[in-house]
Amino acid sequence: MKKSNIILGSIFLLIGLTTSCSKKEITSTPILNTDVVNESALRNPPVIRPTIDPYAAIKIAFGTNIDPTALLNYANQTRPSYITKDNSRTNPITNAKATLGRVLFYDKNLSVTNTISCSSCHKQNFAFSDTALVSTGVLGGLSVRHSMRLINTRFSNETKFFWNERAATLEQQTTMPIQDHLELGYSGINGRESISGLLSKLSKINYYKELFKFVYNDTIVTEARLQESLAQFIRSIQSFDSKYDIGRAQVNNANATFPNFTTVENTGKQLFMTAPVFNAAGIRTTGGLGCNNCHNAPEFDIDPNSRNNGIIGVIGSGNIELNDTRSPSLRDITKADGSINSRMMHNGVFNNLNAVLAHYNNIPVNQRNTNLDARLRQNNNPQQLNLTVAETDAVIAFMKTLAGTAVYTDRKWASPFILP
Ligand code: HEC
Ligand code: HEC
Repeated sequence: MKKSNIILGSIFLLIGLTTSCSKKEITSTPILNTDVVNESALRNPPVIRPTIDPYAAIKIAFGTNIDPTALLNYANQTRPSYITKDNSRTNPITNAKATLGRVLFYDKNLSVTNTISCSSCHKQNFAFSDTALVSTGVLGGLSVRHSMRLINTRFSNETKFFWNERAATLEQQTTMPIQDHLELGYSGINGRESISGLLSKLSKINYYKELFKFVYNDTIVTEARLQESLAQFIRSIQSFDSKYDIGRAQVNNANATFPNFTTVENTGKQLFMTAPVFNAAGIRTTGGLGCNNCHNAPEFDIDPNSRNNGIIGVIGSGNIELNDTRSPSLRDITKADGSINSRMMHNGVFNNLNAVLAHYNNIPVNQRNTNLDARLRQNNNPQQLNLTVAETDAVIAFMKTLAGTAVYTDRKWASPFILP
């Protein structure tokens, strides 16, 4: 034991001496001439680097539309005190991510052909819907259903998305059109790339390198990041400057007479808000039209328990579908001038509000419709509202008070790209 300790100790001593000797040799080399002085200066050069603008590519693509040092306000928009719902959950809006979402929403690179973006089918000047009955996707693809307005999605009671509610959250919804073979086309079928192809494509685009670095502090593009930022942008689209909101702010409940409404608009509001009274045959004898039972004020979106409303047709076929139980908010169904933004219902079957009222006035009897909402039938007789012309006109006048203005033009929801 003792002997081996001594031997080990000597070995370490030897190694130590050798090391310190070689160290000394280097550090003690005398500086003898100017060449060596220059060499040492080169070892620690003064920090003179060309200024690299971290947003150079952003400026090229978006000009002054996006300034990362002065973002537009998405996160702290004011909303009326009577708006209490918020389905943002774990993904509250931030200005940075909503700005990234805005770029993605308007970017044609999101399609396999670089020709279609979300905004091709969700147009700002039509409340983010499409005037076409079915919307044009990639390579001749057409959407199966009519496009939907994207207004006040953040505040809706029903937190599942699409007409048939097949997206469990808005986050999940946002990358479904990307992977839809008929829409943006990253379907992974028939030789097409899947969404991973899109992720690697975006990661090579300079303005995304800068944007992801800015938002996430690294340049990695993932599906979860697309979902998070697209959902924030869509949730930021809000519309609360309607005639309805001006009136609602002046009273303390939605059923009160609104001082800024005409008599007809107030009558229409009452008809909308009040439940009908039916006889056993499903014919309305008194009361209102019951619209608010499903399209609840002040959001006017849809009761999560709603079943279908009797609109069960499928575009371009004789088939039926019974699970279309979501409606976008009825806000901005028309513009402030009263003109409709686009066709209505999942199959775009109506192009004016009189036709909508005619439907609710006389919901068709269809034995195959086993999912008609109970509020729209009595003893299995679909409702008949017995509407007068005056009642129809009044409820339409009321629905037109739900139109906002700023949402159609506010630049924070407009395309950020300089080139179309
Ligand atoms: C080719 C046209 C088209 C494109 C492109 C498109 N959409 Fe849509 N969008 C639709 C149609 C049609 C619906 C209704 C579809 C359904 O319910 O089956 C819809 C529904 C939605 C909804 C549901 C709204 C609600 O209230 O339930 C959201 C949100 C949405 N789209 C966002 C997007 C985003 C984000 C993109 C881009 C990543 C996008 N859309 C691209 C046509 C399109
Ligand atoms: C039982 C619930 C229910 C009631 C009551 C109801 N609706 Fe609806 N409404 C729906 C559903 C569900 C949809 C979506 C239908 C579809 O396209 O499949 C819808 C869609 C609509 C749309 C089209 C929205 C769009 O973006 O295309 C309008 C307009 C509308 N309803 C107005 C009314 C009016 C006016 C009343 C009262 C006369 C009323 N609704 C009563 C459930 C209801």
